[in-house]
Amino acid sequence: MLYSRLSRRLRALNLKSFSSYYKLLQNDGGEELIHFVNAVTTNLTAFFREPHHFELLEQVILPKLMEKQMATQRLRIWSAGCASGEEPYSIAMVVKEVVPSHWDVKILATDLDSSVLARGIQGIYEEERVSGILPIRLRRWFRKGTGNQLGRVQIVPELQALITFKHLNLMHGWPMRGPFDIIFCRNVVIYFDKATQKVLFERFANILSDEGYLLIGHSENLFQLSTRFQLLRQTVYVKGG
Ligand SMILES: C[S@@+](CC[C@H](N)C(=O)[O-])C[C@H]1O[C@@H](n2cnc3c(N)ncnc32)[C@H](O)[C@@H]1O
Repeated sequence: MLYSRLSRRLRALNLKSFSSYYKLLQNDGGEELIHFVNAVTTNLTAFFREPHHFELLEQVILPKLMEKQMATQRLRIWSAGCASGEEPYSIAMVVKEVVPSHWDVKILATDLDSSVLARGIQGIYEEERVSGILPIRLRRWFRKGTGNQLGRVQIVPELQALITFKHLNLMHGWPMRGPFDIIFCRNVVIYFDKATQKVLFERFANILSDEGYLLIGHSENLFQLSTRFQLLRQTVYVKGG
């Protein structure tokens, strides 16, 4: 996988060997490093991927948090490893449908890969990527493209306004103070070794509010990695207990 992804980069740069690419990475002042990172990350995602998470968000997580946060009427959600934006936009649709409009809700969406992040900021998707979304949601949250945007859809500004996209490497320092009420970090840690996952889950626990929620991907779990969470449902955890 790494070979084929980097070979594409070598061809684009007209380089003949991996060692010449390695030299370029060391010597060009960091510019190629951005392309390198963008080439090797796996960005597979979809709207309402792992639908049980969004059902739980609608029926359990948001109602519980609204009860808990009634005094402040404030919710903070983080989509960590948001890829091209389908995950934070799916969260935003459910939030808009469930939480009263006067509540102060913000969604932070971060990723290491700047090219997918740019697509998320744009909020324009091929029509086939939204074919599985309920018609009622499609009508409310998307506009059909015309002219040179035919065959594409655009997220409505009201939904985009809820989300801030930021470039962030989860391995580095985090500029935000938190606390977050919900963190989605799905299908990201599968690429990290266990020691790295352990540190990351500890940091997630520290930046989550008490009884905040952590949602991870279908092939991930916290077994022997963190004691700070309790399992609520399949791949959905609550901080503390
Ligand atoms: C497979 S996608 C998952 C997208 C989405 N969360 C989902 O489940 O549909 C994994 C994303 O994690 C990002 N990623 C990988 N390592 C990262 C890191 N160290 N910091 C931030 N993002 C990272 C990748 O760039 C990629 O967009």
